Amino acid sequence: MRPVLLVALTLLAGCDDYVLDTTGGGGSGSRSDAVLALTGDAATGEVVFDTHCAACHDKAGVTGKVGPALGGVVPGAEDAALVSTVLDGKDSMPAQNIPDDQDVADLLAWMRATWR
Ligand code: HEC
Repeated sequence: MRPVLLVALTLLAGCDDYVLDTTGGGGSGSRSDAVLALTGDAATGEVVFDTHCAACHDKAGVTGKVGPALGGVVPGAEDAALVSTVLDGKDSMPAQNIPDDQDVADLLAWMRATWR
């Protein structure tokens, strides 16, 4: 993994922890925690990926489209970083509007089952 990516992921994880420690403020930090506390269903998560992600990310995870090939990203990324990328966006990736926490947990389960 590129050092830059590692630093970015570390920062993301640290940021999430900070929000966690100041509970009550709402925002995506506590939403991330809510998502991470759920058990995801990979089969449902595939539909979430098709709906929200496949336009920009190759479903096979092998080639880049608008966004990078996720097969090379997901295995080295923390759950918290992946969830926060989805909820908050990252750099040129816009935040994704997925209102149901369970859908995000399902999406995470599908990505974990697909790219190891
Ligand atoms: C409008 C296009 C678009 C959509 C929709 C989109 N992404 Fe992205 N995504 C991007 C781009 C562009 C990047 C590269 C961001 C950057 O510059 O680091 C990216 C990066 C990522 C990364 C890598 C972040 C990192 O740390 O390197 C992950 C993981 C990711 N997207 C997951 C998703 C998931 C899951 C969804 C669906 C919920 C999704 N993306 C939807 C465009 C998109």
